Amino acid sequence: MDNSEAKLAVAKAAIEYVPEGAIIGVGTGTTANCFIDELISVRSRIEAAVASSEATASRLLSGGIRVLELNDVDCLPLYVDGADEITPRLHMIKGGGGALTGEKIVAAVARTFVCIADDSKLVDVLGSFPLPVEAIPMARGHVERELMRLGGRPRLREGVTTDNGNIILDVGGLNISSPIELEAAINQIAGVVTNGLFARRGADVALLGGVGGVKKLGGLSAE
Ligand code: 5RP
Repeated sequence: MDNSEAKLAVAKAAIEYVPEGAIIGVGTGTTANCFIDELISVRSRIEAAVASSEATASRLLSGGIRVLELNDVDCLPLYVDGADEITPRLHMIKGGGGALTGEKIVAAVARTFVCIADDSKLVDVLGSFPLPVEAIPMARGHVERELMRLGGRPRLREGVTTDNGNIILDVGGLNISSPIELEAAINQIAGVVTNGLFARRGADVALLGGVGGVKKLGGLSAE
C-alpha cells in the first residue's frame, strides 16, 4: 500500500465513526481531503460540518455539504483530521498545512478526535518534523528569540499568511520529551496565537494506514 492508498484506506475507516444525523468537525490537509471526499459520498448521513480552515470549507461546500460556523454549535461529537507526527500516546504535531489554529479550536470543541494518517507519521518522540507556531506578525522578532531560548531554530514559512492573517514559524531542534509542558510554554509567549503541539488535547483514536492495512491506536471503536 503506497501513501495515497493508505490515506484513502484510513479515510474510509474514519467514516465508520461518523454518527448518523450529526454535525462533525473536519480537518485540513491531503488526508483530511480524502476523508472529505468519502464524506461527500455519504453526505445525507450528516446534518452539517464545521471546517477547520477556509480550504476545507470550500471543499465541503463544493461537495454539497452544509458548513456551519463553530459559534453556531455547542458541541461536536467527532473531529477527523490528519497529523504531521503522532506518538503511541496520541500526542501530535500538526500545522504542516498552516491551519493549526482552526484545527486546535475545532478539536477543543469535539468529544472525539479521530486522527487519520499513513503510518510513516508514527514516531516515538515528536520533533523531527519542525513544529509550526502561528504568531502575530508584529511579534515575529520577540517570538523567534523566545523560541531560541527554548532551544528551537525558528524559520519563517515564506509567502504564507494564515486564515487569521498571521505568520507561521517552523521550529526545528526542539526537545519534545514533555509535549504537554512545551505546548503550554510556547503558548505563553506574547504574540503566539497557538502552536502545533496537540498534546493537552491529543487524539482519542488514530487510524494509521500501511502495508498491513489500517491499524487502530487508542480505545474507542466505531459505533
Ligand atoms: C494541516 C495539518 C495536517 O493535518 C497535517 O499537515 C497533515 O497533512 P497531510 O494529511 O497532508 O499529510 O495539520 O494544518
